[in-house]
Amino acid sequence: MKKDFISVEDLTYKEIEHVFTLTASLKKERDKFSGSLRGKALGLIFQKPSCRTRASFEVGMYQLGGYSIYLGPDEINLGVRETIKDAAMTLSRYVDAIVLRTFEHKNVVEMAEFSSVPVINGLSDLLHPCQALADIYTIKEKLKKLKGLTLAYIGDGNNVCHSLIHACDKSGMNMNVAAPEGYEPNPEILKAAKGAKIRLFKNAIEAASNTDVIYTDVWASMGKEKEAGKRKKAFRDFQINSKILKTAKSKVLVMHCLPAHRGQEITDDVIDGEHSIVFDQAENRMHVQKAILIMLLKGKK
Ligand code: CP
Ligand code: NVA
Repeated sequence: MKKDFISVEDLTYKEIEHVFTLTASLKKERDKFSGSLRGKALGLIFQKPSCRTRASFEVGMYQLGGYSIYLGPDEINLGVRETIKDAAMTLSRYVDAIVLRTFEHKNVVEMAEFSSVPVINGLSDLLHPCQALADIYTIKEKLKKLKGLTLAYIGDGNNVCHSLIHACDKSGMNMNVAAPEGYEPNPEILKAAKGAKIRLFKNAIEAASNTDVIYTDVWASMGKEKEAGKRKKAFRDFQINSKILKTAKSKVLVMHCLPAHRGQEITDDVIDGEHSIVFDQAENRMHVQKAILIMLLKGKK
């Protein structure tokens, strides 16, 4: 594994399988790993809000015997109070790894360049790799395989969608993306996906038809709040509801990275319904990230 975890694209499928094998052990035998990262410290630099990412990394680090320090937007004030370079070089003297949640993706790349300790991308405007890795782990846990499955992503071609494209590409899953015009995924990310069949749709029902997994995310991501009104109109026909569900396979899994805007991208009956695995998905964030921390900090292959 590379020094940092910035994108699912940087992992080989073999490395992903190692992460998943370790994740399964961590879930099954939590106590066996309770001292794995004793004496290690994790810095969490967050420029955006978080529930799952922050809590899962902090609790995960605690369960491995380590310590975490949360540095919110007011503490470091990255790029304003001091440069990313100076913050990276300072924190590397204190902590053993850094999780960065930021806006521009280049900030994560710069942090990794100047940090001597591993940097984990805890979400940028472009990517959300920890999410996508935990998502495909969850799918594998439920359906016992990945290769050949089809995931329909209905909604914004955003960070979560991009990392899912990488994850599907690596694991041989097909992906149908339905997004309104102007909100499609980044063309370079689409172009780079070689292993899987990634298809773009303008119609959500067509994209969801006969699929194994239906996934959505908020219509206006963090940083796009001002566009919420405009996006509500553009995304009106891109909601996961019972009508969409009927077109998919009978045992379709419904996923959402959360936080959800119930009644917008997903209806209450669907997110609370029998097909939904959103909270298993959220739980697995912690188990997968514990595996990533062990692999990055202990060089475990
Ligand atoms: N899914 C996810 O990353 O959630 P948070 O924004 O709450 O961390
Ligand atoms: N696309 C969302 C994901 C939140 C976990 C955002 O960036 O806000």
